Amino acid sequence: MSTVPQPPRRHGGTPAFHRISPRDIALRKGGAPIVCITAYTAPMAGFMDQHVDLLLVGDTMGMVVYGMSSTLGVTLDMSIAHGQAVMRGSQRACVIVDMPFGTYQVSREEAFKNCARAMAETGCAGIKLEGGVEMAPTVEYLVQRGIPVLAHVGLKPQSVNVVGGFRVQGRSTEEAKAVLADAKSMADAGAFAIVVEGTVESLARKITETVKPPTIGIGASPACDGQIIVAEDILGLYSAFTPKFVKRYAELGKEVSNAVERYAADVRARRYPAAEHLYGPAESSKTKKAARRKTTKARP
Ligand code: KIV
Repeated sequence: MSTVPQPPRRHGGTPAFHRISPRDIALRKGGAPIVCITAYTAPMAGFMDQHVDLLLVGDTMGMVVYGMSSTLGVTLDMSIAHGQAVMRGSQRACVIVDMPFGTYQVSREEAFKNCARAMAETGCAGIKLEGGVEMAPTVEYLVQRGIPVLAHVGLKPQSVNVVGGFRVQGRSTEEAKAVLADAKSMADAGAFAIVVEGTVESLARKITETVKPPTIGIGASPACDGQIIVAEDILGLYSAFTPKFVKRYAELGKEVSNAVERYAADVRARRYPAAEHLYGPAESSKTKKAARRKTTKARP
C-alpha cells in the first residue's frame, strides 16, 4: 500500500490538480487541437472524460437540460450542483464551470466571491465568463487572485437581449474590430484560453493568429486552437434549435424514444417484467452470484 498521503477527495472523482490543468491547456497554443465539450451530469461526464481535454459545465444547461429559452435563468446554485456532478463523474479532463448571468458583472469583488465559491464547492479547475473589454479589469483581478479564467467572446448568449438574438458576430468591419479588441483584452487580462463563438470564419482565424492564449471555437473556424460543442447538440438530445455549425454524430433522442416505446409495449402486454426479472422467496447461491455480476451496487 502507498505511504504517500493522498489528497482529500471532497468532491469525488479526481482532484482538479491531478487532471489536465488550465496551464496545460494554455501551453497548447498552435499544437494539437484542444477537444472540449459540455457536460452537466456525472454519467455523461464519465462517458466523455477519456476522449476530451476539457469538460465545460456550460450555462447552456438552462436550455438543453432545463428547457429554458435562454441561458439567463441559470443560477449559481444550479451551476455548482452540476459542477459537482461532473467532477464526480470524471477523472482526467479539465473541468471548468460557467458563471451564470448576473454573478460576475456587478463588481470585481462580487465576481471573485462567486467564482471562488464555484471553485471551492465543486473542486473545478477554473471558471468561464462572457465578456471582452468591459470585463478585462475583472478578469485581471480574478486571475491575480488564483482563479483561472476561460474567456468567451463573439456571440455571447448572456447578451442576447442586447444584441437582438443569437446573431453571428463580425459581419461588419466595425463589429469585427470590436470582437478582436475583446479577445485581445481578455488575453492581456490573463485568460488561459478564449472561447470564440458564432463569428465569421475569417475573424476567428484572425483572433487565433493575434492572441497568445489558445482559442476554442464554436461556430467559428477550424483554424482555432481547439473546438467546443454542446454535447446534446451532437448527440441528437436537443432539437428545439440546431445551429448551422452543429454536426450530428448520433440520434440518441430517437434511440430513447424507441427504447421507451418498446418498454411501454412490453408493460402493456405484460411481457415485462418476465420471470428472469423477479425475486423468489429464497434465491439459490448460483442465482445470487449471477445477480451480483449483473449489478455493481446492491439494490433492493
Ligand atoms: O454554456 C455553454 O455551453 C457555452 C459553450 C457553448 C461554449 O458557453
